[in-house]
Amino acid sequence: MNRIFSGIQPTGNLHLGNYLGAIRNWVRLQADYECIYCVVDLHAITQQQDPDELRASTREVAASLLAAGIDAKESILFNQSLVPAHAELAWIFNCVARLGWLNRMTQFKEKAGKHRENALVGLYAYPVLMAADILVYKATHVPVGDDQKQHLELTRDIAQAFNSAYGVDFFPLTEPLILGVATRVMSLRDGTKKMSKSDASDYSRINLTDTPEAIAQKIRKARTDPDPLPDTVEGLEGRPEAHNLVGIFAALADISRADVCQRFGGAQFSKFKEDLTALAVDTLSPVTAEMRRLLDDPGHIDSVLRDGAEKAEALAQPILRDVKEIVGFLSP
Ligand code: TRP
Repeated sequence: MNRIFSGIQPTGNLHLGNYLGAIRNWVRLQADYECIYCVVDLHAITQQQDPDELRASTREVAASLLAAGIDAKESILFNQSLVPAHAELAWIFNCVARLGWLNRMTQFKEKAGKHRENALVGLYAYPVLMAADILVYKATHVPVGDDQKQHLELTRDIAQAFNSAYGVDFFPLTEPLILGVATRVMSLRDGTKKMSKSDASDYSRINLTDTPEAIAQKIRKARTDPDPLPDTVEGLEGRPEAHNLVGIFAALADISRADVCQRFGGAQFSKFKEDLTALAVDTLSPVTAEMRRLLDDPGHIDSVLRDGAEKAEALAQPILRDVKEIVGFLSP
């Protein structure tokens, strides 16, 4: 049986990059896999969080997943801290993973910056918790973007290290799931930078909570170059902004970049941007509206997450029990 696990950080301000890069794929995977989706609040506190904002972001991310089409009956959706098995297995993995492996993690190096001595132990151990998230369900596949590939490789190393330390063949080597055409959505102000919630300019991104007017304005102001659109993808080379906008159109319309170029080749950006706006508004506004509706009733979101946690717990417990037995802990 193929089982998917994936996690998303509870950060406010979800944007088009999150939607096209992760959320929409998660929705589609439900057709072919048993899916477990987790809002990773334990990971979130590896960076400073305001408690009220963390609560709000957790609900907001859950609402956006539900609004986009995650079916909480078919799949499992919950927030990480409700299932203590993640943290328990993470500790056991801390006693299997090597300092040297964690020292190589590029995300830690980036996030810790120059002040390594001051970095949180939790930030350092972040990838170990991620391995526990995945392996506490013996997930076979994890959909990952480029930035998480290294963490998934570490997950495989940890699984192997556990198996060999205890002489068992217990944890699977989880496979990455690379999804179709990679949708890397870049900033609307600079086609060489990723679209990011932390960019100072709100014009750099389309938020899932933006009104149609805001979306229209941001696309109108999006940076371009003076030439018309090319009629082949080769013509996008060296034109990062054109490449990005064409990529966004292609992803929203579910067609290839080549198709977009064929359709708009020779057109001015002004015309292309009008069509792109209409498409973005059509795609996002039902999601936005449903998200707003859900957020009006936080109690309902909380109860969906609690139900999901109960189902997750039921899958994790037997696996964790076996792990404790293998390690040599007395049974309760
Ligand atoms: N680290 C992932 C991110 O920042 C989130 C995450 C936590 C995750 N646990 C996971 C992703 C397990 C996949 C599987 O995007």
